[in-house]
Amino acid sequence: VGPRDLTGRRILVTAGGTREPLDPVRFIGNRSSGRQGVAIARAAADRGAEVVLLVANIDDGVLDAHPAGLTVRHVSTTAELREAALQEAQSADVVVMAAAVADYRPETVAEGKIKKETQGDVLDLRLVRNPDILKELTSARRDGQTIIGFAAETEADPDALLELGRAKAARKGVDLLVINRVGWTEGFGTERNDVVVVTGGGDRVTEASGSKSEIADRILDLIVP
Ligand code: PMT
Repeated sequence: VGPRDLTGRRILVTAGGTREPLDPVRFIGNRSSGRQGVAIARAAADRGAEVVLLVANIDDGVLDAHPAGLTVRHVSTTAELREAALQEAQSADVVVMAAAVADYRPETVAEGKIKKETQGDVLDLRLVRNPDILKELTSARRDGQTIIGFAAETEADPDALLELGRAKAARKGVDLLVINRVGWTEGFGTERNDVVVVTGGGDRVTEASGSKSEIADRILDLIVP
């Protein structure tokens, strides 16, 4: 049994990837498995926190059994995640946005299945921007609330990756930003992760490599009083 150093803290975690419907049977989505977010929620509950976990379309088996102290709510679209996150954040001391949120959604959702017979050889999709949930959360930050975001970037050069993260930390107004490299074989869906954590002001506070649950504990170490 590890330390119960988060006893009494209320933590909201998001995990998985949002999906934006095109028609009743299709969506635009991403490859987030939910592993990193679920690992954070699980580790926080194991360390005594009262955790609300918002999960969007996670892979099978990622959340089979969950510990006491963990309440799970299922969402799918960015709009659903946004509504639940804004509501749950009102009573959270710490928010961790590990979900991969769709930046765009189809402008219209077809009522029936989109058919190639009526579309022909090319189908144009028009996408519109989704609200930035993390930015809304930091704009509405409660006194004493700590808000942690993630940055998923495909940049291979470590220095350039760090600079992208620093700019994102400032733009989003977070207290801490966890920067991870993602790609065809990194970040999304993997068992391990490599992260650099910066403050909102861009100072590097820690870096870690390991299983997603090891990464989770290193992130949570940063919020222990
Ligand atoms: O689920 P796994 O397979 O384990 O993979 C883990 C992960 C790679 C998905 C995870 O570690 C991760 O990086 N999550 C954030 C993915 C993401 O959306 O990053 P971003 O750089 O596009 O967004 C930056 C931050 O803003 C994120 O905290 C995101 O949750 C948030 N955001 C983004 C867009 C939007 N419209 N609203 C948001 O709140």
